[in-house]
Amino acid sequence: MERGKFITIDGVEGAGKSTQIDFICEYLKTKGIRIVLTREPGGTEIGEKIRTLLLSNSTGQMHADTELMLMFAARNEHIQNKILPALEQGDWVLSDRFTDSSYAYQGGGRGLDVSRIAQLESWVVQDFTPDMTLLLDVPVEIGMSRVESRGEKDRIEMEEMDFFDRVRQAYIARSREFPDRIKLIDSSQTIEHTTKQISAILDTL
Ligand SMILES: Nc1ncnc2c1ncn2[C@@H]1O[C@H](COP(=O)(O)OP(=O)(O)OP(=O)(O)O)[C@@H](O)[C@H]1O
Ligand SMILES: [Mg+2]
Repeated sequence: MERGKFITIDGVEGAGKSTQIDFICEYLKTKGIRIVLTREPGGTEIGEKIRTLLLSNSTGQMHADTELMLMFAARNEHIQNKILPALEQGDWVLSDRFTDSSYAYQGGGRGLDVSRIAQLESWVVQDFTPDMTLLLDVPVEIGMSRVESRGEKDRIEMEEMDFFDRVRQAYIARSREFPDRIKLIDSSQTIEHTTKQISAILDTL
């Protein structure tokens, strides 16, 4: 059986990931592709428990290294117990966030040394990289204003604008480092404008 493709979607809060995921799932289904939708941190029973720990405000202060290692612990469960089994069955997998988020948030945002993130990546992820990453790019103010009405912010969303600016810049830097895999998509305009770019890119797969 032919192995499925692994697609990840990434970007700052309010970039439009969840919105576009609905479109991507529908679009791939019309092509007869079986698609498993999942997310990080999370995607497995243990991963979702780690997600709660990572994002809950009641968790309080957490050392940045702890945050990084918990992200990768959840990712290990995710890869081993969900993503790889699905791909091996021939399903495609679409993940809302993946390793690029660790480089952006814990690297760019928290300022952790990139070489440490790379060490964990080489342990947990090894050479298992997405076939394609859709990076939705939006200025932080626009993304934030889109999610403002959503109510209470989680532990990471409580950070200040500068933090998210660093996150965005780290994402952009990664898209330059891996131009074949990471497709940088302007998501600052209408939903339809973003959707059009995504469908054109998916057609290349
Ligand atoms: N291109 C767009 N133009 C205007 N509004 C948009 C656009 N894309 C998404 N939105 C709206 O912005 C809000 C946030 O979008 P969405 O939830 O898809 O972002 P997200 O990237 O998943 O955010 P998070 O990282 O917080 O999960 C939604 O109300 C959505 O309808
Ligand atoms: Mg979302």
